[in-house]
Amino acid sequence: MARLIVYYAHPGHKHSHVNRHMARAAAGVEGITFVDLYRDYPRLDIDIVVEQTRLLEHDVILFEFPMFWYSTPSIIKEWEDLVLEHGFAYGADGDKLAGKQMLLAVTAAGPEDAYTQKGYQHYPIRTFLTPLEQTARLCKMHFTAPYVLYSSLTAPVTGFVEPHVAGYVRLLEAIRDDRYDFEAASTIDVVGFDSLPVRTGY
Ligand SMILES: Cc1cc2nc3c(=O)[nH]c(=O)nc-3n(C[C@H](O)[C@H](O)[C@H](O)COP(=O)(O)O)c2cc1C
Repeated sequence: MARLIVYYAHPGHKHSHVNRHMARAAAGVEGITFVDLYRDYPRLDIDIVVEQTRLLEHDVILFEFPMFWYSTPSIIKEWEDLVLEHGFAYGADGDKLAGKQMLLAVTAAGPEDAYTQKGYQHYPIRTFLTPLEQTARLCKMHFTAPYVLYSSLTAPVTGFVEPHVAGYVRLLEAIRDDRYDFEAASTIDVVGFDSLPVRTGY
């Protein structure tokens, strides 16, 4: 079994229509670790020792967040700045994260066709996530296709919240049970609830 930790970051948790349900479902998945960053660190006073210990104890590090200004909510950046120290995550002897997987679960209000060269967001969503991708690479971690929900604000009326949450649970359980095909996921840009590279059995 893979040791999976989910870091959830949403400063407006109470007003969320998608991530709140994803987070509640994730917290209920047995055999994984769930951390609500804004609940644990409302003043952003991240405990570096606690977080580095958590990282050492897990194989797959997943960040769940709504896209905010083409990036993450700020607590994830603060977490990176403090926790991914030289000599721990990168640099000389900084190999403590080598071989681990970094995964993102992202919701975006923009529709899928907006995240294209001709769309109003001008770039694919992966372009906006490259700082995290390269951070993973510098820390000798693997980075695979993010689990994405586009058009997140209309998802409650279009009926996409439920399948997205169910897909999230499938994803987390598959990772935990070593049924998630990371190799296949590393060859695609994004995954959704209807395109998860999950192996059904052995
Ligand atoms: C401060 C802020 C910045 C946002 N920036 C973006 C953005 O850059 N791209 C985008 O597609 N949606 C953006 N959104 C929309 C959020 O991604 C959207 O509200 C969220 O995915 C909905 O999920 P939730 O119901 O769980 O909050 C932004 C929302 C806020 C509040």
